[in-house]
Amino acid sequence: MNKLIAICGKGGVGKTSIAALVVSRLIAKKKSPVLAIDADPNTCLDLSLGVEAIKSVGRIREEAREIAGKGMSAGVSKQELLELKIAECLVESQDFDLIAMGRSEGHGCYCYANNVLKAIIAELTKNYPFVVLDNEAGLENLSRRIVQHIDTMLIVSDPSKQGIKTIKRLFDLSQEMAISYNKLALVINRMKPESESDYFQSLQQDIGANYLALLPENSEVASHNECGQSLLTLSDSNPVVEAIDRLIINLKL
Ligand SMILES: Nc1ncnc2c1ncn2[C@@H]1O[C@H](COP(=O)(O)OP(=O)(O)OP(=O)(O)O)[C@@H](O)[C@H]1O
Ligand SMILES: [Mg+2]
Repeated sequence: MNKLIAICGKGGVGKTSIAALVVSRLIAKKKSPVLAIDADPNTCLDLSLGVEAIKSVGRIREEAREIAGKGMSAGVSKQELLELKIAECLVESQDFDLIAMGRSEGHGCYCYANNVLKAIIAELTKNYPFVVLDNEAGLENLSRRIVQHIDTMLIVSDPSKQGIKTIKRLFDLSQEMAISYNKLALVINRMKPESESDYFQSLQQDIGANYLALLPENSEVASHNECGQSLLTLSDSNPVVEAIDRLIINLKL
């Protein structure tokens, strides 16, 4: 069975950067091919990975709705047609592929379209030993169950007081929504030298996280993002890269 790593947290804390770095380091550890799923409608995981997603699944959803209402020509089932359309959304790179989910839904009923798309995505993910899911802020995507089973959930925050409050809230919400996962990691990103770490250890225990990763504030990560440069080009000795390597080892990914 493949391993699905879902990254969630509040807005702007570094989810996309961390998703890109997890993809990057899984590749470095020869755990490819990796499927990166960009589940944020304001997509930019593609940029962080140095590729460009031209078409999103959200657009297919509209088409799926139209197809559902139409009779089909002999020989091609609706499912097959949608599979072909989904394949058009897949960006293929050397060691990873990427698919962008785009907007979740518009007006009207999308139940049929959503169910078919979920089934196709479930099939697609079977082709990859690792799937990395970058979410928009909050847990909406996970509650919509666009993916079946999460192996590892990373809750990301910055070290601010507000960020810490959000961690607990997100965790409680995930329990209420019965989002299941095998392993949970708490990731505090953009740690400054003066940031306290003791508090995060007790928070880790509170939420029963298997691992606590403390990622430092790093100017190279910031400047790569600013210039739209792929995070795959960061060196092995970058301290954030090293911290992601430790996370992969400690969580036995
Ligand atoms: N460790 C880090 N050091 C310095 N800057 C960082 C670090 N991690 C992320 N950033 C910066 O923080 C900003 C937000 O990062 P990112 O887009 O990855 O967050 P996000 O949680 O995906 O945001 P959103 O909720 O908008 O999708 C970016 O400008 C990025 O360069
Ligand atoms: Mg993001």
